[in-house]
Amino acid sequence: MTSQDPRPAPAPHPAGPGRRPAPVVVRQARPADVRRIYQLVQPFTETRVLIAKELISYFEAVQEFVVAELPEEPGRIVGCGALHVLWDDIAEVRTLAVDPRVQGRGVGHELLQTLIDRARALGLRRVFCLTFEVDFFARRGFRRIAGTPVGTDVYAEMLRSHDDGVAEFLDLARAKPNTLGNSRMLLEL
Ligand SMILES: CC(C)(COP(=O)(O)OP(=O)(O)OC[C@H]1O[C@@H](n2cnc3c(N)ncnc32)[C@H](O)[C@@H]1OP(=O)(O)O)[C@@H](O)C(=O)NCCC(=O)NCCS
Repeated sequence: MTSQDPRPAPAPHPAGPGRRPAPVVVRQARPADVRRIYQLVQPFTETRVLIAKELISYFEAVQEFVVAELPEEPGRIVGCGALHVLWDDIAEVRTLAVDPRVQGRGVGHELLQTLIDRARALGLRRVFCLTFEVDFFARRGFRRIAGTPVGTDVYAEMLRSHDDGVAEFLDLARAKPNTLGNSRMLLEL
């Protein structure tokens, strides 16, 4: 960046002054990554932290996903996350998962930032998340909300979806066993 560069200086890393962002490479997921994404997510579905889905659902959604690799182990995916568009101004961060062996090194942060950047690039105004990781999301600007942040007309349209994540977003009775103890959070972009 030169002294004439009009761009603002990069924001400090939210991990705090002196704590440098982890050297992690985040990239668009490819179909060849899907089995590894499934494997990464699987343990979190067994404890109901994330929704259990069939392998085919990950192939269908692969274009929504980003994956993370650490430079010391190129080719080994250690994290993933997806941005699922819900309506004309809102999307959901879903299936954000980091291999427990590398958690706490900034991988989750980099994945989430990439998904938020995607939401901005798509012209969206809000990002929703349903999570147990309240502090992690709160430190990145999400706040807890009650209910479903859409009007009644949009709610009625969204009821037509067959997606399990949308059922959770709408807080439908059939989705409640999956969402017990989760917090509903929203980021305004
Ligand atoms: C939530 C989740 C994705 C976070 O992943 P992660 O890789 O551990 O996240 P990070 O390492 O970026 O951040 C966690 C903490 O590590 C520490 N940390 C992160 N980067 C750091 C760095 N560069 N230096 C030192 N410490 C750092 C910080 O304490 C950070 O907390 P804070 O920044 O919120 O204060 C992970 O816990 C997970 O997979 N959970 C299960 C699935 C889930 O609940 N997903 C969310 C709903 S979709």
